[in-house]
Amino acid sequence: MRRRSVIFSGLGLTLVAALGALFWRPKDLGENHDNYFSALNNLLKEKGPGRPVMMIDVDRMNHNIDQISNSVGPEKTYRIVVKSLPSMDLLKHIMKRANTNALMVFHQPFLNAIVDAFPEADILMGKPMPITAVATFYNTLTRSAAAASQQIQWLIDTPERLIQYQQLANKLGVTMRINCELDVGLHRGGLSTAQSLDAVLNIIDGDPEHLNFSGFMGYEPHLTGLKAKLESPSVQSVLSIYQAFIDQAKARGVDTEKLTLNGAGSHTLGIYENDNLMNDLSAGSGIVKPMDFDTFYMKGNYPALFIATPILKRYDELKLPGDPAIAKLLPLWNPNMQRLYYIYGGYWKAKIVSPAGVADPIYQSTNQSPITTSNSVDLQIDDYIFLRPTQSEHVMLQFGDILVVKGGEIIDNWPVFHQTG
Ligand SMILES: Cc1ncc(COP(=O)(O)O)c(C=O)c1O
Repeated sequence: MRRRSVIFSGLGLTLVAALGALFWRPKDLGENHDNYFSALNNLLKEKGPGRPVMMIDVDRMNHNIDQISNSVGPEKTYRIVVKSLPSMDLLKHIMKRANTNALMVFHQPFLNAIVDAFPEADILMGKPMPITAVATFYNTLTRSAAAASQQIQWLIDTPERLIQYQQLANKLGVTMRINCELDVGLHRGGLSTAQSLDAVLNIIDGDPEHLNFSGFMGYEPHLTGLKAKLESPSVQSVLSIYQAFIDQAKARGVDTEKLTLNGAGSHTLGIYENDNLMNDLSAGSGIVKPMDFDTFYMKGNYPALFIATPILKRYDELKLPGDPAIAKLLPLWNPNMQRLYYIYGGYWKAKIVSPAGVADPIYQSTNQSPITTSNSVDLQIDDYIFLRPTQSEHVMLQFGDILVVKGGEIIDNWPVFHQTG
């Protein structure tokens, strides 16, 4: 009797486990390319390079440029974040459409390239540069050091760094424009109390021949994800810290109307539509909207940047090294592993967006990556698959020229920056 009940309860458990497994089994999520990606696939098969490419959809990007410049509004300056859009032609396009000459730069080789290409641009550095990078910039400059110095606002975070810059400016015989990094709550560095501005202004006021105070930069990406509105306490805290620095500068006799009061980024720019404390707002990534920018204030922007890569191989069954039984069992559990493709390249900071329903990768390879789908996905060798980069700044530099697509046609190739200039 006891033995029989043990057997029954064992059977019962197995049955529950089997039903549970059926219930929790992943659904078939596979879908072929929709009209948008089908058209791109056909275009690339006919005119693409047959290797992984980074492409920009100009129609979508133009919409995003308009969104961002409307959000900044006519009273303030829209400053383009160069590191997130690392291509000269791309920058030219955005500067023209958004009607702005203001750029934010984070890398010395890019700075030299930008100063050569855009003598009219106003350039704010996005991070404090080591003094040797500043010296390298001047040593490799092809234009007059004095003229280039008028274009750039160097970002400083401490009086010690300012003294290094002052010594270099003295040696070069130029006047450097100095913008102060403020810690408005991110705690990534910069001046953290309004009183600490005094030490900086003392140095600047004491050497007007070599130093000129140009403004503040207070970046606040810690507001991302809070769905923060202007009146939210977290935003008010940022603004009151910022205001304290402006008041301190005024008390020192600075004409703050003439300063560049920079802040924001793609994630947070929308907060300030009805605020005038900062007169200069930055955004880069939101122009092409990589995946990490699917955030609250970016809802109206379209994904405009894709990696497209060809399929090299297709198998209508799962194949795995080792025990063939596992390759047979896995698709029974997960239908999204019925079909196996190998793509050209892979392992980028990116996620596959078309076809839909690609299972988690069996393994990743930068040479040829396996991807699996259900039988509902029916792509052929040489068809392209599409990924959305999670970020733009580094990923855009990995593919050579950007393929520029507009109205369903490839209209241009835009070279990207070289990391080392
Ligand atoms: C100082 C500063 N401002 C603005 C941004 C915003 O750039 P994006 O709009 O690409 O997020 C960044 C990004 O890192 C930054 O460091």
